[in-house]
Amino acid sequence: EAIEKGGYEHFMLKEINEQPRSIADCMRGRLDAKNGRLVLGGLRDYLNKFQNAERIIITACGTSWHAGLVAEYLFEEFARIPVEVEYASEFRYRNPVISEKDFVIAISQSGETADTLAAIELAKSKGATIFGVCNVVGSSIARATHAGSYTHAGPEIGVASTKAFTAQISVLAMMALKLGYQRGTISEARYMHLLAELETIPSKVERALKLNDKIKEIAWEYKDSRNFLYLGRGYNFPVALEGALKLKEISYIHAEGYPAAEMKHGPIALIDQEMPVVFIATKDSSYEKVVSNIQEVKARKGRIIAVVTEGDTTVKHMADHTIEIPETEEAFVPLLSVIPLQQLSYHIAVMRGCNVDQPRNLAKSVTVE
Ligand code: G6P
Repeated sequence: EAIEKGGYEHFMLKEINEQPRSIADCMRGRLDAKNGRLVLGGLRDYLNKFQNAERIIITACGTSWHAGLVAEYLFEEFARIPVEVEYASEFRYRNPVISEKDFVIAISQSGETADTLAAIELAKSKGATIFGVCNVVGSSIARATHAGSYTHAGPEIGVASTKAFTAQISVLAMMALKLGYQRGTISEARYMHLLAELETIPSKVERALKLNDKIKEIAWEYKDSRNFLYLGRGYNFPVALEGALKLKEISYIHAEGYPAAEMKHGPIALIDQEMPVVFIATKDSSYEKVVSNIQEVKARKGRIIAVVTEGDTTVKHMADHTIEIPETEEAFVPLLSVIPLQQLSYHIAVMRGCNVDQPRNLAKSVTVE
């Protein structure tokens, strides 16, 4: 096992650190920005159907569902097709309205999640086309779908998903760009620019990972907190959910992720000097608004940990701690902003003496209902 961990103390830490490579592996042979090429083999025969879909339904569980939420923003922004993101466990029992005009994307690391598999069977029985985004080759979900793209992140052993999440987003981003280009909803120039930017992500993830020591210090300060709030907007809203889930899963600290603007409708009541609030406040279209949410938390003496874009000075003056990540296109920010949140939950859990790779009551894949 020590050999498998490759010198790391835990699989989770190894998998967090593998992300520059796993994202590159996921894009290898598919993305060639210089020549404007983007090829997803599994999509080829279904591109026409995908392009003409009236609606995209994304179904998944857990962290994969969070990747699906990021994909909702991606598909709607680039391809202008309406998207619904569904918890597989709800979708399967809701008698949902599905037709042959729907394109269903099922996301699953293991490819064995019982609820996701059942949601696929239901959608299939109504005539929809099902596309799988799985990590495990030959898994049940990969076999049950009409077509799919593997995430090629390599085996993920830690129960808390890390590198599978960023690989899922990478595949979904490529799908959204391809679809947008085919449909003419993004210009050639923008498409080329986005491909080139996507290609830089592995090296930017590498840079983001270097913040580890700083995050460890922050972890030490907050390891005894009983609650955490994670807030983000737009593309960073799913990241807030994912950051909170990571912390809950492995450190057993109660954490909630919320869209930053919804704070005023509830969570703001929880804020006092005991409450750490993690803001994802990168320079994007909702930056100014998130900054005013930070002010509101500060006014109530909440402790602020902010993930910001490199060079940010505004938030630095307001937050107790800032974590600076490289700049990228807004649509790709989740691939970078989730990294410090993975590290934060990891270090807090280790400091609390938790079993990071196998947290209590959780399973790597849930093959029963
Ligand atoms: C379990 C795991 C999570 C995972 C979820 C969905 O709850 O502990 O890490 O996100 O199942 O699994 P899947 O394999 O379908 O992505």
